Amino acid sequence: MAVKYELIKECKQSGARLGRLHTPHGTIETPIFMPVGTQATVKTMTPEELKEINAQIILSNTYHLYLRPGHELVEKAGGLHKFMNWNKPILTDSGGFQVFSLGDLRKISEEGVEFRSHIDGSKHFISPEKAIEIENALGADIIMAFDECAPYPADREYVKNSLERTTRWAKRCKEAHRNPDTQALFGIIQGGMYKDLREQSVAEITALDFPGYAVGGLSVGEPKPLMYEVLDYTTPLMPKDKARYLMGVGSPDCLIEGAIRGIDMFDCVLPTRIARNGTAMTSVGKVVIKNAKYTEDFGPLDPNCDCYTCRNYSRAYLRHLYKAGEILSGRLVSYHNLYFLLNLMKDVREAIKADCLLDFRKEFFERYGYDL
Ligand code: GUN
Ligand code: ZN
Repeated sequence: MAVKYELIKECKQSGARLGRLHTPHGTIETPIFMPVGTQATVKTMTPEELKEINAQIILSNTYHLYLRPGHELVEKAGGLHKFMNWNKPILTDSGGFQVFSLGDLRKISEEGVEFRSHIDGSKHFISPEKAIEIENALGADIIMAFDECAPYPADREYVKNSLERTTRWAKRCKEAHRNPDTQALFGIIQGGMYKDLREQSVAEITALDFPGYAVGGLSVGEPKPLMYEVLDYTTPLMPKDKARYLMGVGSPDCLIEGAIRGIDMFDCVLPTRIARNGTAMTSVGKVVIKNAKYTEDFGPLDPNCDCYTCRNYSRAYLRHLYKAGEILSGRLVSYHNLYFLLNLMKDVREAIKADCLLDFRKEFFERYGYDL
């Protein structure tokens, strides 16, 4: 098997899991946050910089790399690791989510999804078999099944049909997978915000026996308490001996709440996206660097951070860079935001070790005092 999850311990206070995920490109300590590198690059960050801040695994996207530069080209280059010069673990999402986000540009059938490229309008078709063919060519350590993510809100009937289709597609993905010894195919649980449908999806997807499982269809616009409620009844049904990945979640509060509910892996564009818009996640809350109040603030972005950005640059300088439209602004704030989230997950792992994750959450929220 390509990937093996090892449960080290559960936090006595919260039930959160401390573990290790062994992959062909190294071992990951969980719970973990995965920076997103949609186009075979974590925007503005070199692989050396990612290693410097202890990124253990990154995520990339099948849909984007299929359209450009094409999975055949990446395969010719020797696979995604070699192509982008990243020799640590990589996970690729299947494209299901990206294709469904295209709205009017796509048409779903049992066979797969027909869509028009967001780049040049050209017509394409991705089936479960095609998604796996692309993911096999890219060569990530963990690859995701091709699923259908229902929007929010969606009625029961719609969600039931889409979760049942997701199960049929998961079966087809498993049958199409050519490299199970070097790439672990994870199944994705759907079911929207309906308890019985989540139960049905967990039962159907886990019956297919994947080496890991994701919870999909969350963080799609529902209120956070509703997402926590869904996790509350979903994760206890998932196998304890496999990794659990909550897709598309990356705000500091959700990472802590997810870990408390037994999630091991997270990914989100949030830290890098808001960085390019001049917003930092800091230990004292959100800092919107363009605000006039930072014009003469010569202190660091985050007074409690020892990252490269915070050791060397002031809020006033970062504000100037942002206002002047300088590329370095997005780079320095991305560096800090990723450092902050990776460090937060390290603190979460330490708190699990010490059986005090609920205390940690309380302290963190008191200091942080905001919601992104
Ligand atoms: N990213 C965020 N949510 C999802 C989901 O439900 N499915 C997939 N494939 N990717 C996601
Ligand atoms: Zn910093």
